[in-house]
Amino acid sequence: MNILVTGGTGYIGSHACVALLEAGHDLIVVDNLYNSKIDTLEKMMRLTNKEITFYQVDLTNELAVDKIFSIHSIDGVIHFAGMKAVGESVEVPLTYYYNNIVSTMVLVKACLKYNVYRFVFSSSATVYGDNTVPFVETMDLLPTTNPYGETKAMSERILIDIAKANPTFSVSLLRYFNPVGAHESGLLGERPNGTLNNLMPYVTQAAKGVIKKLKVFGSDYPTVDGTGVRDYIHVMDLAGGHVAALNNIKKGVQIYNLGTGKGTSVLELIHAFEKENGIEVPFEFVNRRPGDIAICYADVSKANKELNWTAKRDIFAMCRDTWRFEQNLVK
Ligand code: WQD
Repeated sequence: MNILVTGGTGYIGSHACVALLEAGHDLIVVDNLYNSKIDTLEKMMRLTNKEITFYQVDLTNELAVDKIFSIHSIDGVIHFAGMKAVGESVEVPLTYYYNNIVSTMVLVKACLKYNVYRFVFSSSATVYGDNTVPFVETMDLLPTTNPYGETKAMSERILIDIAKANPTFSVSLLRYFNPVGAHESGLLGERPNGTLNNLMPYVTQAAKGVIKKLKVFGSDYPTVDGTGVRDYIHVMDLAGGHVAALNNIKKGVQIYNLGTGKGTSVLELIHAFEKENGIEVPFEFVNRRPGDIAICYADVSKANKELNWTAKRDIFAMCRDTWRFEQNLVK
């Protein structure tokens, strides 16, 4: 199928594009390069030996988006593009609401105008709020602790209402848990512009000596070792989940957790990284980070069953592939 991928040069988007190309799809990538680099596109094409049509367009630019839809015959959309730094979203909420919500609406408006009825949306486990684990797709959502999370929850609700009003509009909401890792080639990986937010980039910075110590946010959570527990999923497994969602899309709205179903603490991840890569990760315990929840991991039975998809790579592969990419960056 001819798939339009927004945010396709980003961390998750680029890995998903490689999986989509390898599954035989043709891609049109739309990205404003706000949080990604154009050389990623060349790497995606080199890895798959496939051409990609690319537009550097901001999705809030309705005219530019409409023009793309008027030129190409599009069979489906995968919408990754969005600002995703939790802390930043608290500081500049209007930027987050405007960018993330308007982008989604502009995109859906074009889909309906040009009869594009397959829509896969990059959502997040954040929408569950501080719920009881394991998080299940059918559970009631609780308020998230930040505007970023609210933009994901709102986008889900917008897509659900649009699907209700347009019965042929088929939506797959994919709730990611904690994506980490990198393509095994070492060519693609997480390259955040600006301030880091997530754990794994800080782990690699500490391992490389770029920072003296990794700050572990809290050691008094009610968990196996007092540190936060998350469901880390390899980005290539996440990518495979998108191929499966596209292949199994059906009328109405389907919601799927994309995780491993396994929780890993910060300390367990640090030790796995050290063991797998034979390198020390210096760290220190500091206060909890405001807004963090203690434990978050998925019930993945629905995606396993309905998408015939299961995450295959373990925490050691996540650490190994991350480190390989980081070392390639230095070269
Ligand atoms: C993981 C664990 C921290 C940094 C967020 C978003 C979510 C998704 C993934 C976009 C927690 C601890 C972290 C550090 C630490 N993003 N930590 N020291 O907060 O679970 O989820 O990113 O889709 O939507 O909410 O991810 O990687 O920031 O934190 O101790 O320097 O690592 O306390 O327990 P999080 P994270």
